[in-house]
Amino acid sequence: MLALVTGASGFVGSHLVEALLAAGWRVRRLARPASPPAAAAGRAFTVVPLDDAAAIARSGALADVDVVFHVAGVTRAHTAARFAAGNVAPTRALLDAIAETRGGRPPRGVLVSSQAAAGPADGLGRPRTEDDAPAPAGSYGASKRAAEAAVATHPAGAAWATVRPSAVFGARDRDFLPVFRHAGRGLAAYPGTRGAALSLVHAPDLARALVLAGTAAGSAGRSYFVAGWEEVPWPALYEAAARAAGRRIRLSVDLPGWALAAAGAAGDLWSAAAGRDTLVGREKLALGRPRRWTCSAARARRELGWAPAAGLGEAVAATRDWYRTAGWL
Ligand SMILES: NC(=O)c1ccc[n+]([C@@H]2O[C@H](COP(=O)([O-])OP(=O)(O)OC[C@H]3O[C@@H](n4cnc5c(N)ncnc54)[C@H](OP(=O)(O)O)[C@@H]3O)[C@@H](O)[C@H]2O)c1
Repeated sequence: MLALVTGASGFVGSHLVEALLAAGWRVRRLARPASPPAAAAGRAFTVVPLDDAAAIARSGALADVDVVFHVAGVTRAHTAARFAAGNVAPTRALLDAIAETRGGRPPRGVLVSSQAAAGPADGLGRPRTEDDAPAPAGSYGASKRAAEAAVATHPAGAAWATVRPSAVFGARDRDFLPVFRHAGRGLAAYPGTRGAALSLVHAPDLARALVLAGTAAGSAGRSYFVAGWEEVPWPALYEAAARAAGRRIRLSVDLPGWALAAAGAAGDLWSAAAGRDTLVGREKLALGRPRRWTCSAARARRELGWAPAAGLGEAVAATRDWYRTAGWL
């Protein structure tokens, strides 16, 4: 089987490529000209503007492909236009290129969307399901939802499944790295989330779910939330990270709203001045505000036969081991 993977230089995409290669697939990676050279180092990438359908078609990247995994996307930006440019335009271009080159025999496909396209859950014990009406969160969620709509309305998208991962952690991730850093010192520093809960998935588990979504009978046209652990209170995540380090949480701090607002404004100013997007900005902080970023993976378990490979404690410990070996901790 031959896979075409966008976003292979990123965190989720790198885990997907590992899973595909381990399962005996051949993998073709698409990267954009703006990709940092280090991301492509040592690996064979087809470099093409991902928002240019004609260029993708001309590149020949789609020839003989069995499954397209569209992972590339923008998770941090300080304007709605940048989210749309990174999340919607490449999705449309890829679908147009498929229609142009593969005509009546389009490959199967998987869109990596996000829980943000659907929105947070209503309350404790009621994780969001695929049957709930989408209520996209912020410009990021709106752009991921628009990408889902592009797939749903495009003729080439009929052979695609949509996967909405919950928050993803694992080797090579930078977003949860501060949690591991703080917990390793016995500190829990909540960005206003001490009383909140979230769904989590370990990156290798998500990668297996993506492969299943791209190959399982009946998955085309379906959407799947993917979460290994559906309702994890933030303190439980800090405790798991502390346990993995042989520590216990001794000090907990929940940052007050005014401090978060100031940090978000400063992050946006820095992004505007530097022309690069930071982890902390008003958009990202607004996304963290809901108390229940939880979703149910019952459909993925039932229809794809998917389940996490290990428990949360083991996944957290494996992540910490990777950070230590890589010198990130
Ligand atoms: N991490 C999570 O918790 C999470 C949760 C839910 C959904 N997701 C989704 O998973 C996907 C991958 O996220 P990630 O966490 O792996 O992020 P990441 O590490 O930042 O990787 C993003 C990938 O997308 C590419 N990319 C960035 N900007 C682009 C643009 N404007 N046009 C085309 N490609 C672009 C990057 O390539 P370059 O090398 O060129 O920069 C990189 O390969 C995204 O679609 C995201 O929405 C992630």
